[in-house]
Amino acid sequence: MKVIQVGIGGMGNAWLHAVGKSEVVDFAGFVEINDDIARQQAEAYGLDPARIYPSLPAALEAVAADAVINVTPPQFHREVTVCALEAGLPVMQEKPLAGNLEDARAIAAAAEDTGVLCSVAQNYRYLPLSQTIKNVLDSGELGAVAALNIAFYKGPHFGGFREEMAHPLIVDMAIHQFDAMRYFLGSDAVTISARSWNPPWSWYAGDASASVHISFANGAQASYTGSWCSQALETTWNANWRFECEHGVLLVEDDKVVLQKLLGVGEGPGALVNVHEERREVPLVHMERMAQDYLLGEFYGAVTQGTLTGTSAQDNIKTMELVFGIVRACDSGQPVTL
Ligand SMILES: NC(=O)c1ccc[n+]([C@@H]2O[C@H](COP(=O)([O-])OP(=O)(O)OC[C@H]3O[C@@H](n4cnc5c(N)ncnc54)[C@H](O)[C@@H]3O)[C@@H](O)[C@H]2O)c1
Repeated sequence: MKVIQVGIGGMGNAWLHAVGKSEVVDFAGFVEINDDIARQQAEAYGLDPARIYPSLPAALEAVAADAVINVTPPQFHREVTVCALEAGLPVMQEKPLAGNLEDARAIAAAAEDTGVLCSVAQNYRYLPLSQTIKNVLDSGELGAVAALNIAFYKGPHFGGFREEMAHPLIVDMAIHQFDAMRYFLGSDAVTISARSWNPPWSWYAGDASASVHISFANGAQASYTGSWCSQALETTWNANWRFECEHGVLLVEDDKVVLQKLLGVGEGPGALVNVHEERREVPLVHMERMAQDYLLGEFYGAVTQGTLTGTSAQDNIKTMELVFGIVRACDSGQPVTL
């Protein structure tokens, strides 16, 4: 399968590596609007500078391709991806599906109308940690999940588009955790209440911190607190999670998964008490390929077999509705029902 990669700086590096390693996917060409980045990346990766084009239509005229990987900043996702879909080329779209809900709906509609696959890179689903959590929850060992708490604290200084966005934490980062909530619970969000704010020392123009409560259709209640301008004691990129379940608790801290089950109720000093088994660490599952490597393999399989992926635009639009529902709740100060 021959692909055109649009956007080869920044996160484009992850896709240059993923395609570079793949035995079944190869490059037909590239699109990059920044000449310096085009020059640097051509040197760094040994790309043919003559195959780096200034726009997707120019690339489509010059080379034959089977698919497009779109790694541009969110405000360009709609233009690039709809152009590819209308040309009949499946798209591997970096998250978020788009920079706003209107664009995201337009992309999902284009995928539906053309019948051409648009798959979204929700790579956090395809990490050993996420797969381990999913396996434990799906095994039924802990019973139903009633509530989950997620804490995310990081302080990256990226520069670029994130520092200009109105809601960088929610739209660009926490989207991974909101998407993972849907994945882990196998359910969609129904109601949201949320607050966002920007700490006085923040280097972002928009709100870099937020606190969000989400009720899911299956009854689970999720509370998320996070900051992208935390000054110390950061969590990992995967955040810390606590799942309150019918038969015990699943805890994810510092990328370690720990489980404790309830054995029953016994006599305590003066009152009945819960009796637990010992805490046990759950070993992380082994994955041959993860994150972008996994997504590329899944995309290749779906394109060659004419199927959808687990994170198609038609499914991912529900993650986008959730993310922009949270933005609406923050901006209005009112609860939002999806
Ligand atoms: N899945 C993840 O974990 C993850 C991590 C980082 C970024 N991302 C996503 O990847 C996308 C890109 O983010 P980034 O951090 O690489 O941004 P960036 O600004 O660092 O890089 C974007 C690249 O695309 C180029 N570009 C911009 N507009 C273009 C256009 N219209 N046509 C062709 N090239 C264009 C830029 O010149 C640059 O080389 C965003 O949607 C971001 O959210 C995902």
